[in-house]
Amino acid sequence: MTSHQIRQAFLDFFRSKGHLIVPSAPLVAKNDPTLMFNNSGMAQFKDFFLGNGTPPSSRIADTQKCLRVSGKHNDLEDVGFDTYHHTMFEMLGNWSFGDYFKKEAITWAWELLTEVYKLPKERMYVSVFEGDSKDGVPFDQEAWDLWKPIVGEDRIILGNKKDNFWEMGDTGPCGPCSEIHIDLRPEADLALVSGKSLVNNDHPQVVEIWNLVFMQFERKADSSLIPLPATHVDTGMGFERLCMAVQSKMSNYDTDVFQNTIEVLESLSGKVYGGNDEPFADIAMRVIADHIRAVAFAITDGQLPSNVKAGYVIRRILRRAVRYGYSYLGLQEPFFHKLVAVLSDQFQDVFTELKAQEEFVTRVILEEEKSFLRTLESGLKRLDVITTSLKAKGISVIAGDEVFELSDTFGFPVDLTALIAREKGFQIDETGFQSALQEQKKRSRQDAAKEATDWIELRESDGVEFLGYDFEETHSNIVKYRKVKTKAGEEYHIVLDRTPFYAEMGGQVGDTGVLEVPVGTGLKTINISDTKKENDLFVHISTDKNLDDVLQQASHVLAKIDHGRRAKIKANHTATHLMLSSMREVLGTHIVQKGSYLNDEVLRFDFSHFSKVTDDELRRIEDRVNEKIRENILLDERRNVPIQQAISEGATATFGEKYGDFVRLIIFDPKFSFELCGGTHVPSTGEIGIFKFTSEGSVSAGVRRVEAVTGEKALEIMRRQEETIYLLKELLKGPTDLIKAVENLLEERNTLQKKITAMENEKLQEIKTGLISRMKTHKTFNLIVAKVNVPGADSLKQLSYELKDQVENLIAVFGTEIAGKPQLSVYIAENIVQETGLNAGKIVKELAKEIRGGGGGQPFFATAGGSDASGLDTALEKAKELF
Ligand code: ALA
Repeated sequence: MTSHQIRQAFLDFFRSKGHLIVPSAPLVAKNDPTLMFNNSGMAQFKDFFLGNGTPPSSRIADTQKCLRVSGKHNDLEDVGFDTYHHTMFEMLGNWSFGDYFKKEAITWAWELLTEVYKLPKERMYVSVFEGDSKDGVPFDQEAWDLWKPIVGEDRIILGNKKDNFWEMGDTGPCGPCSEIHIDLRPEADLALVSGKSLVNNDHPQVVEIWNLVFMQFERKADSSLIPLPATHVDTGMGFERLCMAVQSKMSNYDTDVFQNTIEVLESLSGKVYGGNDEPFADIAMRVIADHIRAVAFAITDGQLPSNVKAGYVIRRILRRAVRYGYSYLGLQEPFFHKLVAVLSDQFQDVFTELKAQEEFVTRVILEEEKSFLRTLESGLKRLDVITTSLKAKGISVIAGDEVFELSDTFGFPVDLTALIAREKGFQIDETGFQSALQEQKKRSRQDAAKEATDWIELRESDGVEFLGYDFEETHSNIVKYRKVKTKAGEEYHIVLDRTPFYAEMGGQVGDTGVLEVPVGTGLKTINISDTKKENDLFVHISTDKNLDDVLQQASHVLAKIDHGRRAKIKANHTATHLMLSSMREVLGTHIVQKGSYLNDEVLRFDFSHFSKVTDDELRRIEDRVNEKIRENILLDERRNVPIQQAISEGATATFGEKYGDFVRLIIFDPKFSFELCGGTHVPSTGEIGIFKFTSEGSVSAGVRRVEAVTGEKALEIMRRQEETIYLLKELLKGPTDLIKAVENLLEERNTLQKKITAMENEKLQEIKTGLISRMKTHKTFNLIVAKVNVPGADSLKQLSYELKDQVENLIAVFGTEIAGKPQLSVYIAENIVQETGLNAGKIVKELAKEIRGGGGGQPFFATAGGSDASGLDTALEKAKELF
C-alpha cells in the first residue's frame, strides 16, 4: 500500500464505524496558553473532554498535523539520530466523546491493523496501565480483560505512569492508555532476543504504533486528578511508523513519505542515502527531510520564523536543517527552500493549504536561509578571532560564555561551534556553556512568570453562549473564576455562562466593559479590562482588587460591554475586509492575509507581497475603500453555513485559522467582500466614515504591513495635520501659497549659504597673503607661525595645504580659537620630513601641552585641540623656538 492508501484506509475504516471525518487543525495552536503547537490529535478537541463545548459528532476521526518540539512532548534532539521520531508527524486518530469506550476502541484497533493492514499478529504486543498509588488510579483490569482473548496473556505488558498514563500537558484531560507495539526486525533476529523484552526500549524496529487513551481525568494545576464528567476515547497512531510497518521497511525514512525528499537531497549533494560510510550524511538527510515538513507546514499555517516564541521555535528548526546541510552535505548555498515543491506535490490531496501557498512558503524559507548563511559567516569570523587570540595565549579550550555569546548573539549553533573548534584543534567548555544557558533560562522564566490558581467552580454549565453579535449587555451567571499572579500584580479571570464580550480572536481585540453585581440593595461594578479566549472558554479579565467575596456571592450579573469602544472596533474590522478586497483588485490576487490586529484606534494588517506598495497603489486602495464606504453597503451576515457550501460559493478563508463544520459569513456585496469571519462588524459600511492609511512597511521576507485608521481617529489625524499647516502659515506670516513660501525660504537659504562660503574663501585669501608677507625665510625651510582667525577647524588644514602649493619647503604652525576652544596645527613639507625625520604628529602633541590638550596625525600634518585658550601664544612661541 502507498502512504496515500494507508491514510485513506484509516479514514474509510472509521467512517464505516460511524465516525465523522474532520480536517486537521492548523499546526499552530490558537487560544490555548498551555500549547504553542498542536502536539497530538486530541488537542483541538480538548474542550470537548473537559465539558466546555459540544462536538459536532460523538465519534470523530482524522489525520492531524502534529509538532513535538516544545513543552511536555519534545522530540527535536532525537530527530535524525534515530529513524522513527519526528518534529512534524501525522497522527491518525479516532475519538469517542462520551460514546463508546475501551471495548470498541480495542477491538476496532485490532481489526484495522490485522484485517485491513494485514499486519502480522505474532509480531505485536500491547501494554496496559499497571496503576499508580500516588495518583490513586488502579490497574486497568478492564483493558487487560479485553486484550487477553485477542492477543493472549503473554503478549500483554504492564506499563507504569510514564508509559501508560497519557497527559496532554502539565494540566488538562488525561487517562490510562494501552499501546500497541510492533516488532519489525528481520526474521533472523527474532530468535536472538524476544520482541517483548525490546518493547519501550528504544529499539528502532520495535516501536509503538498506536496509543489508545481512555480519558477519565483532568489534571489540575495543584497536580491532583479529578474525574471528567464523562469517559472518552482518544487514540493516536503515528502515520509514518504505520507506513514503515505496512510497507515492511526498517525505518520511517525508507517509506514513500520521505523518499521523494531524500532523492532530491541526494541529487543536490551528490551523496547517496545509506550507501556511504558517512553516518553524519545520513543523519543530515533525515534531519532535513524531517525538518522541511515542520517548517513548511508551520509557515503555511501562519507561523513565520521570528525571534520570539513559536516563531523562534520554527527558526531554530529551520536553522538546524540548514546547518546539517552545511556541515555534512556540503550544501553551502541556500537549498532548503527547494524541497517545498516536493512536499506540496506530495500533500496536494491531503493538506491542500501548502500547494495554495507554495511560492510564498518557498520565498520565506529562501530569505531565512540567506540570512542564516550570513549569520554563519559572521559567526565564523568571530570564532576565528577567538581561536587566534587563544592560540597566542596557548589556551586550547573555548570558554563557556564565549560559546554562549556565539550562540545567543550570533545565532551560531553550539554543536557547529564544537565541530569547527575540533577541526581547529580546540575544545569547548561544555559545562560552562550549560551554566550560561541555564542562567539565561532562569532569567526568562522569571520574566514570564504567571501563576494561576485552579478554577474555583461556582456553578454547572454546558459551555459558554456568546451573544455579542446581537447584544451589548446580557444577564449572566458566574460559572467559575481564578486568580492569576502576573508581573504587574494580580488578575481575576472570570467565566460567565452567557456573555456579550467578544474575546480576542482573528485579530480583533477583546471587549472591555463592566459586570454589575447586585450586592445587598446596591450594585457593585467589576471592571473588565480585556477578554481572552482559552480554547472555547471566554475569560473576562479584571484587575480590580479583592473580588472573591463579590464573585462567590453574586447570584447573577449584568454584563455590559463598552459600547463606544466596540463601535470603533467594528468600523476597523469591516474596513479591514474592504481593504483586503481592494488590495486584491489593485495589487493582485496573490495577496493573502498573514496577520491582523485591530482595536478601537488602528487596524494593522500583514500580507504576502514581495515589493513595497507604492504611494500611488496605496492611494488607489484607499480610494476604493472610501468608495465602498460611501456606497453604504448593508451587512449580509450568515451564521451556521456548512463550510463546504461557503467555500464553494467563493468565501475567502484565512490559512492557519481553524474553522468548524459550520461557519459564519460576513458579506459586503457578494461580488466585493465575502469572508469567513467570527468578528464583529458595522451594519452598513457608511458607519466607517472614512478610511486612511497611516503607514506601509516590511515585516519580514515577503510580508508587508500596513496600518490605517477610520472614522473619528482619521478625522483626528487629519485635524492634526491641518493644525500643523495652520501653524506653519502663521510662522510664515500668512502667505497665500504655503508651498511657494517654503520654496522661497529654501532658495534664500541656499543663496545665503553660497555667499557665506564665498566670503570665507575671500577671508582665507587675505589671511594667506598676510601670512606670506610675514614668513621667515631660513636656509633650508620657510617658517610661518601665526595665530589666525578662521571660521572652522577644517580651515587650518585648508590654509596649510593652499600655502604649501605656493611656498616651497614650508613649515607652518597655526593656532586659533573656535567657539572658545583652542586648536593647533602643524604642517611640515614632505621633503623636509623625509630628510630630517621631523614628525608633525609628535610636535603637535608637545605643543598641545600648553593648551591642555592632545592630538596627532601624520608626520607631515597634524592637529590638536585643547581646553585652555590662554596657552595658545606660549604654544606658538615654543614652536618658533623649536624650529
Ligand atoms: N493523545 C494520545 C497521544 O498523543 C493518543 O499519544
